[in-house]
Amino acid sequence: MSQTRNDTGKGKVPMMSVANRITELRREVERHMLLYYQLDSPEIGDQEYDALFAELVRLETEFPEYWTPDSPTHRVGAPPLKGFEQHRHRRPMLSLDNAFGAEELFAFDERLRRLLETDGPLEYVVELKYDGLSLALIYENGVLVTASTRGDGVTGEVVTANAKTVRTIPLRIDPAPAGRLEVRGEVVMLKETFAKLNQARAEQGLQIFANPRNAAAGGMRQLDSRLTAERELTFLPYGQADGERLARTQLETMARLAEMGFQIPRQPVVCLGPESVLTILREIEQMRPDLPFGIDGAVVKLNSFAQQDQAGETSRGPRYAIAYKFAAEQAFTLLREISVQVGRTGAVTPVAELEPVVVGGVTVSRATLHNYDDLERRDVRAGDTVIIRRAGDVIPEVVGAVLDKRPAGSERPIPPTHCPECQTPLDREDGMVVLRCPNRSCPAQVAAKIVHFASRSAMDIEGLGEKQILRFLDLGYLSDVASIYRLVDRREELINLDRMGAQSVENLLTAIEASRTQALERLIFGLGIRFVGDRTARDLARQFGTIEALAAAGVDALMATPEVGPRVASSIREWFEDAENQVLLARLKEFGVHPPQASDPAGDWFAGQTIVFTGTLEQLTRQQAEDLVIRNGGKASGSVSKQTTRVVAGPGAGSKLAKAETLGVPVWTEAEFLDSLPPELRPS
Ligand code: IVH
Repeated sequence: MSQTRNDTGKGKVPMMSVANRITELRREVERHMLLYYQLDSPEIGDQEYDALFAELVRLETEFPEYWTPDSPTHRVGAPPLKGFEQHRHRRPMLSLDNAFGAEELFAFDERLRRLLETDGPLEYVVELKYDGLSLALIYENGVLVTASTRGDGVTGEVVTANAKTVRTIPLRIDPAPAGRLEVRGEVVMLKETFAKLNQARAEQGLQIFANPRNAAAGGMRQLDSRLTAERELTFLPYGQADGERLARTQLETMARLAEMGFQIPRQPVVCLGPESVLTILREIEQMRPDLPFGIDGAVVKLNSFAQQDQAGETSRGPRYAIAYKFAAEQAFTLLREISVQVGRTGAVTPVAELEPVVVGGVTVSRATLHNYDDLERRDVRAGDTVIIRRAGDVIPEVVGAVLDKRPAGSERPIPPTHCPECQTPLDREDGMVVLRCPNRSCPAQVAAKIVHFASRSAMDIEGLGEKQILRFLDLGYLSDVASIYRLVDRREELINLDRMGAQSVENLLTAIEASRTQALERLIFGLGIRFVGDRTARDLARQFGTIEALAAAGVDALMATPEVGPRVASSIREWFEDAENQVLLARLKEFGVHPPQASDPAGDWFAGQTIVFTGTLEQLTRQQAEDLVIRNGGKASGSVSKQTTRVVAGPGAGSKLAKAETLGVPVWTEAEFLDSLPPELRPS
């Protein structure tokens, strides 16, 4: 048996294979560095790369006998490209250590407190970690003279002409700071620009970019700066590297850079101690999908430069900062097959069946391909290696294929002509790219309608998920949405089904019973009327108060509802005029589905007010608090601005509270908020 060391924390590594594994990892890491930094076309996602890199670092630390000076772990980035003049950085452009969770953040904090010999909480700033290409801008007496990429950290490529095409890079700073000033930051491509660029590329049969970072990096390193200009890049600064210090802290430095004309999308937030850093990190992760540019995490830095200097640097990176990485929103995987799915409105969509892959923190094995026109445009085929994206709560989607990896002989998918479930010939709606199965009794549509009705954001019937619904449909226990309320007559049969013990049947029936009095907006949403999402359903419930009033409303009355235009209004009318739907509503009523009247539709207690809830609420859920405001004529917003009337802050409130204080927006506790309500609005 080979000798092992088992203190690696990750199982046993046989000695014989350690050297081989290290060699293999170095080769792989080198190869992926080349693909990433020089060719701007990675083949694996960041998470996989980080894992390879971390494994190599771990093995090299644990088996120092295999240390070599040329290991890729001693390097950041890649040697500069030929074709550009070289620039030797006055101070190396280093990398940052990563933290992947709270534990590693706490360890970082502890290390720093030890280094700085202090017990008290340290002051940190938390910044967005822009996902782009790092760039150093050198100004002499306020004039941009050199722009350089990071290169290998010591020597970069001079890309001044390219940088001058980036509108957010000031060419001149006025009033001019005397002498030399070096500003470092990241060049990114906005998500919107990226989407347009990739669409155009796909239409031209060109390889799409895997992500905005590659598109930005590729753009910045064009030999012809006109091509850079076409990419419409954005520069986001993150600090000063050389020249007389603009300030004594990172926070003030960023404020000074903003005054000089640099664009800073979100000023860093100052936090005392790692707990409040974590609160801000969570907020940043939540806002991530809504940001106009990509971030791959946040950077936590000591705010004070005196403390930064004291903490110092290693050859890889500074000790005073750490990159807190979020789950990657993109990954590469194999598209095994393109299947066809029939939705609740009969829409027939192609779905990618994938080799399971972790993206956005969850395992994804299916992803939407939207529609056949889009599929054709993107030219995605079975057998392709594809890029999967999942941002926030967004449904995973296939961004595109890696053309280099396409197997020989692959074919474009052919759109179906008949419904895969009921074989009815499909309609292609005029002017719409959607294929639709016109058969309303199509079993796939019936199932999808029931799944939607019972789902968490509609009637929220726990225990009645897709699997159970398909099974009950098979057994003939369910036939439509209303038949859910007849399941109670089958208590015995349900109990006798395998895997459905008495307790789970009781739970299911109780959940069904409880759903009879679900809020009106949930019922409206659950009906699955085309174009009526949960927000519109909420507005309609508030406007009409009962399902009967909604059913009776004409197009004009419907259009008096906020955000309801002619298209939505006529879809609602159509739904209620349909004979089958009328029968369904009558049956639901007969089976006791009766939402309580939505709160006084004329309620205007919060009219003209915009309220932001932040931190932990103790008496209301966030949803209840926001509903209360919206139902009564106000707006509930997720971010604080000058338009915000009031912020209601609970324990753990962080940047929103700070922002409210800066902008002078009044802040209430939850108790003060509740006390301010008239008695009829107070939750019982
Ligand atoms: S501070 C010594 N702040 O992330 C490096 N870097 O993984 C100090 N980055 O090389 C960098 N956003 O290119 C810093 N707010 C931010 C950043 C940021 C993105 C990049 C930067 C750095 C890399 C480290």
